[in-house]
Amino acid sequence: MKVTIVKDSVEGSQKATELVLKAVKNGAKVLGLATGSTPEGLYKNLVNSDVDFTKMVSVNLDEYVGLAPENDQSYHYFMAKHLFDAKPFSKSYVPNGLAKDAATEVARYNKIIADNPIDLQILGLGRNGHIGFNEPGSPFDGQTRKVALTESTIEANSRNFAHETDVPKYAYSMGIGSIMKSHHIILMAWGKEKADAVKAMIEGPVTEDCPASILQKKHNVTIIIDQAAAAKLD
Ligand code: F6R
Repeated sequence: MKVTIVKDSVEGSQKATELVLKAVKNGAKVLGLATGSTPEGLYKNLVNSDVDFTKMVSVNLDEYVGLAPENDQSYHYFMAKHLFDAKPFSKSYVPNGLAKDAATEVARYNKIIADNPIDLQILGLGRNGHIGFNEPGSPFDGQTRKVALTESTIEANSRNFAHETDVPKYAYSMGIGSIMKSHHIILMAWGKEKADAVKAMIEGPVTEDCPASILQKKHNVTIIIDQAAAAKLD
């Protein structure tokens, strides 16, 4: 893994933007995308660029169980608002939070990932080291599944909901095994709230207790963190 420390999220988002644009120019066909506050700067830069995704496919990491695409807290809604409305792809896949049967939805999404090998995967980092919604203890070889969110994730994500009790308790998430198959991964993390997770990811043992630590095992990984997130590194 290559670690780049930048001044702030603006500089880091710019670096990530350059890498995405380069990948597109070099023929990337499938982008793996994340939601959350971390990639917002990257998506804004892409919206303001002349990049054309109309011949490409996107595959998102996750979606809350129980939220409809038009719910403004759903990840469908987030992606439309921050990227897809301005920069459509030929096809954009996000797990269906309203799927009637979890096993069918999981199988559908795993087939989508198998049929669309990810050239470049964008990741954020949870305060507890999660990637996607693969919480601590998730198997390193996992595929898409329905996951229970931890209390720490529910609390962190409650900032976007009126009440903490409104935060869904479950999500569909691409598994770590699928994420690791991406040709190239860019993980971004901003702010001091991420400093412990960043340290565990980069300097800690490779353990399912910190899902992102598995990235140490992959060569083609670019970690972009700001100074606050890097503050606890040796
Ligand atoms: C979102 C996702 C999550 C977030 C992580 C960080 O699709 O997969 O792993 O990347 O929770 O969230 P933010 O960026 O809001 O700090």
